[in-house]
Amino acid sequence: MFGKKKQKPQIDKDQLELIENAQRRIKQKKRLYVHFVLFLIGCVLLIIANTVLGIGKDFTIAGVNWFVYAILIWLFLFLYHLFNVFVTHKFMGKAWEKQQLEKLVAKQQERIDKLKAGFVKEETLIAQSDLYNETTPKTQNPKSKSELTIIVAAAKNDAIGKGNKLIWHLSDDLKRFKSLTSGHHIIMGRKTFESFPKPLPNRKHIVISRQKDYKIPHGVILVNSLEDAIDAAKNDSQPFIIGGGEIYKQAMLLADKIELTRVHEDFEADTFFPKIDSSIWKETANTFNKKDKNHEYEFSFITYLRK
Ligand SMILES: NC(=O)c1ccc[n+]([C@@H]2O[C@H](COP(=O)([O-])OP(=O)(O)OC[C@H]3O[C@@H](n4cnc5c(N)ncnc54)[C@H](OP(=O)(O)O)[C@@H]3O)[C@@H](O)[C@H]2O)c1
Repeated sequence: MFGKKKQKPQIDKDQLELIENAQRRIKQKKRLYVHFVLFLIGCVLLIIANTVLGIGKDFTIAGVNWFVYAILIWLFLFLYHLFNVFVTHKFMGKAWEKQQLEKLVAKQQERIDKLKAGFVKEETLIAQSDLYNETTPKTQNPKSKSELTIIVAAAKNDAIGKGNKLIWHLSDDLKRFKSLTSGHHIIMGRKTFESFPKPLPNRKHIVISRQKDYKIPHGVILVNSLEDAIDAAKNDSQPFIIGGGEIYKQAMLLADKIELTRVHEDFEADTFFPKIDSSIWKETANTFNKKDKNHEYEFSFITYLRK
């Protein structure tokens, strides 16, 4: 309808390469043949020049005429040419170069694939750990699943004890202490432990002392540092630090929560609770309690969480 299209010869890339290669080889062999003919003619001319025309007749090296050396040098060059055509170009020619290049590219590709696989694996792990961080509650220390809680009753002036005894008796405070700590580990300094007539029921006692041979009743755990005490309670979701002054001071740096009973009065004392820094601790609950026949002083239950 729109006229006949001119048919193009259909030669693929490989065929084209074979043809080019054959042409190249023919050219190389032709050049070698010309070289051979020139060499033969050259040899005859050199011999004639020396023997017939007498050119350099007297010039000899080690008793041999110069044209012999000239022919030998040319022969060497011709052999080198021959070697190039039949060995170097045949086995290390373009095809060989291409093959080497392909091998190299394949190796590089393999390395890239390996790196890619490693990268994907790493990305997956990062994504998984991000997901873990997102699902871990922020109020908890991410390193441990337990919520280390200080429980204390402190006066307005932070007094907590005198002569290794508590200063007041507040029945509701003791009830709260019992209900919060029951079923948990309670961590205390040696002096606080000695202030009890006997271990408290339904709680695992961990006593901290520097004395390695300190005698403790059966079932009580003795440790030599606060860190060891926390470690001993690591399976508890909420271990409690229950005092006294020395242990509170050290535990303030590690605790996640403070359950404070603030007694609204000043008292004379020899042991005090550290100041609660509002830049570190956030008040999350506060319940005021009036005086009554069982409670000589006003007091508040206050909860703090580490910010
Ligand atoms: N109001 C409250 O809520 C409350 C609560 C608990 C206690 N308290 C009062 O607090 C007073 C006792 O407190 P406190 O400060 O005198 O004594 P404490 O803290 O109960 O115990 C101190 C002892 O703990 C051991 N200790 C402390 N740090 C240690 C560490 N880093 N490594 C190893 N051992 C360590 C030492 O025992 P060793 O000497 O054996 O080495 C030290 O003498 C009493 O008056 C008690 O009634 C009040």
